[in-house]
Amino acid sequence: MLANIQLRNFRCFESLRVEFFPGFNFFIGRNGQGKTSILEAACVLLRLQSQRSSTLAPLIRFGEKSFALSGGIDGHVLEFHYSALRRKVAFDEVDQRTLEEYLRAGRVVSFANTDIELVRGGSEIRRRYLDFLATQVDPLYRPTLRSYERALRSRNALLKSPQPRPREIAAYDAPLLEHGGKLSTMRARLIERLAPLAAAAHRAISETEEELVLEFSPGNSDDFPSDLANSRAQELRLRQTVVGPHRDDIRLLVEAHPASQYASEGQQRTVALALKTAQARVFMAEEGKPPLLLIDDIFGELDPVRRNSLLRSLPADAQKLVTATTMQWREQGGEGPVFELKNGRLIGG
Ligand SMILES: Nc1ncnc2c1ncn2[C@@H]1O[C@H](COP(=O)(O)OP(=O)(O)OP(=O)(O)O)[C@@H](O)[C@H]1O
Ligand SMILES: [Mg+2]
Repeated sequence: MLANIQLRNFRCFESLRVEFFPGFNFFIGRNGQGKTSILEAACVLLRLQSQRSSTLAPLIRFGEKSFALSGGIDGHVLEFHYSALRRKVAFDEVDQRTLEEYLRAGRVVSFANTDIELVRGGSEIRRRYLDFLATQVDPLYRPTLRSYERALRSRNALLKSPQPRPREIAAYDAPLLEHGGKLSTMRARLIERLAPLAAAAHRAISETEEELVLEFSPGNSDDFPSDLANSRAQELRLRQTVVGPHRDDIRLLVEAHPASQYASEGQQRTVALALKTAQARVFMAEEGKPPLLLIDDIFGELDPVRRNSLLRSLPADAQKLVTATTMQWREQGGEGPVFELKNGRLIGG
């Protein structure tokens, strides 16, 4: 479990220390008081990436040049220092050159109000969902993804040049096919594992027998080399690579109908929650211990009964950091300390 965290020049906080408890930890406060920032600090400390920002520069407090995070997890000390020029990562006070040991310390699943975009939004959102999970369970995933993206970028840059030269473009076919093939295999396997877990979570959260099906919709067929060869004319016309894992998607079906088109808003939210819960279950199967759950403002229009049953549907033994604007809906005797944020300070706990 994450025992504590220290923030320095991170978002709105100049300096803050939080001691966490096992199970639920609630953070309440009015808008803009720093609730999401505390969850973000936990995510960045454990995963070196933010759940809400694709780059880390915006996390540096206005007027400062760097931020620093440190914290204790399962008896280890993690430290991360970030500035535009330098990143420093230390595990048990030893500076790390590779991230493997550091990143093994803790896993994270983030639930947010924007998760409904997993159902409604474009395919890149579902790929990011897969990537966030896969980089945490398979150390080979990130390097494979990066290599694929590098080959794709180079290829696309050549396709966009005023006079594309087929020979130069073809030089990137081999790395594109090699890393792309590996990426597809890893993603297909991951979706196979997620599918039954998401279906079970969906039944539990919706309290119905409605069937949620996840299907991999790959951006190329089993014969990627032929797909690539056959797409030459189209590539030159559209000036980009048109087949491959950068077009992968997950098809989401509720009772055999695409959830983006047919499911109600409440049903779409349930599907999104099921997808995130399934991520948590994959970690439990993989690591034998649950991930840290970051639960940011997901209660939206839910009534108090649903809010409480939603909290109950989360993996019981996981540590949870939960934000809300009030706690008036919480059942009597509900477990977990409540921290209140006001003007950059933390009250209670
Ligand atoms: N780099 C930064 N430096 C200083 N302040 C920042 C920075 N980035 C964001 N902020 C401010 O930090 C405050 C806290 O933001 P945060 O998203 O954590 O609030 P929140 O409590 O989650 O609010 P909400 O209830 O609206 O979700 C906001 O007022 C925001 O404007
Ligand atoms: Mg917030």
